[in-house]
Amino acid sequence: MIACETQILQRLAVLVMFHGLSMGKIMPHYVLVQRQMSWYKARDFCQRHYIDLAVLSTEEQYFSLINATAANNVSFWVGLHRQNISSAWTWMDGEELTYQNWYRRNYQGCVSLEAMLEKDKKLLARYCDEWHMFVCQGPVSPQPVKDSVGSDHVILSWNISAFMQMTPHSYNVTLCTNTCNTLVFHYTTGSTFMTIKISNLTSATEFVIEISAFVVRPEWAGEKNILQSNPTALQVKTVDSRGQSRAIFVILKLLKLVSLAPPLWILCQILKTYDFKESATNFSTVQELSTIETLVELVPDKTRGIG
Ligand SMILES: *[C@@H]1O[C@H](CO)[C@@H](O)[C@H](O)[C@H]1NC(C)=O
Ligand SMILES: *[C@@H]1O[C@H](CO)[C@@H](O)[C@H](O)[C@H]1NC(C)=O
Ligand SMILES: *[C@@H]1O[C@H](CO)[C@@H](O)[C@H](O)[C@H]1NC(C)=O
Ligand SMILES: *[C@@H]1O[C@H](CO)[C@@H](O)[C@H](O)[C@H]1NC(C)=O
Ligand SMILES: *[C@@H]1O[C@H](CO)[C@@H](O)[C@H](O)[C@H]1NC(C)=O
Ligand SMILES: *[C@@H]1O[C@H](CO)[C@@H](O)[C@H](O)[C@H]1NC(C)=O
Ligand SMILES: *[C@@H]1O[C@H](CO)[C@@H](O)[C@H](O)[C@H]1NC(C)=O
Repeated sequence: MIACETQILQRLAVLVMFHGLSMGKIMPHYVLVQRQMSWYKARDFCQRHYIDLAVLSTEEQYFSLINATAANNVSFWVGLHRQNISSAWTWMDGEELTYQNWYRRNYQGCVSLEAMLEKDKKLLARYCDEWHMFVCQGPVSPQPVKDSVGSDHVILSWNISAFMQMTPHSYNVTLCTNTCNTLVFHYTTGSTFMTIKISNLTSATEFVIEISAFVVRPEWAGEKNILQSNPTALQVKTVDSRGQSRAIFVILKLLKLVSLAPPLWILCQILKTYDFKESATNFSTVQELSTIETLVELVPDKTRGIG
């Protein structure tokens, strides 16, 4: 089986790989495997060499695949099937089929994409043991990626699509300023999101970050077979740490003022008392007021109690 697969892979010169960045969306890699197999054999092949049979979760993906296969007037298995006559039609990532523009002529368990069918209705339910060519799908980049920056670090997080949760994979994160630096992070099986922290960065610096997902598959033709998605790119700027220390300095100054506030208030009250006494009594008398008396005056609640 493995030898046969290697042969297939080596003959994939006609392999159609496409991806696009239309409308800001990352399209996955689709690979047309021009060998005929039953749906289950095809799925096994895709899982071994890519990630799975193609999942077309958006209409955009559906039409892109139709466009890419237009030149091939044949049938391709895709990753859509149902377990039995009473269960729903689901894609390999567990999502149910949402659009209706397809044929269920045979109402069987597996679905193929039929380039020769008219207009947009190009999906056709078939018997799973028929032999057809098929479309595999490679890794998909994280989208969207959220970032939060500090003066010396960046924290990135993203949700893992159901499709990518199906296989162990890693992320290649490249940071570029004048030079580039690549870091690798591994996906922990079972988790639904990733959070990574990149430390030791220079403050107040702009970085272009590219993240792509990759899987390592059995080598063929003596070469390591790494499948990598199109990168998701984002731009971040670390916080200006001098700005930060300036801010801290201002805060400290404010704090100083706050700690000075009670004495200042007391001083103010003394002056007020002084004014008041001056107008009511004689200047000389006020001059003789003891500090104790003044302070008592300044703490109103206690004054009443004591007085
Ligand atoms: C598919 O091709 C048609 C024309 O050939 C084009 O109008 C359409 O935008 C394409 N769709 C995608 C998703 O690439
Ligand atoms: C596709 O193949 C069918 C028969 O399998 C044929 O009738 C049709 O003309 C072909 N279409 C193109 C565009 O080659
Ligand atoms: C049909 O498949 C579903 C799972 O998709 C399963 O729960 C159910 O028992 C199956 N029914 C029959 C009649 O096999
Ligand atoms: C992940 O998904 C949750 C909802 O399921 C959403 O609230 C959150 O913003 C998403 N995170 C990212 C980074 O997209
Ligand atoms: C990670 O990305 C860099 C730059 O894009 C590339 O040279 C390298 O081969 C990638 N590594 C893996 C394991 O995919
Ligand atoms: C940051 O750099 C210091 C030395 O420059 C090193 O010891 C430390 O391990 C680095 N930390 C990280 C998280 O890379
Ligand atoms: C206030 O002091 C003045 C002299 O500075 C004096 O003439 C006056 O009688 C005093 N008034 C009272 C109420 O003590």
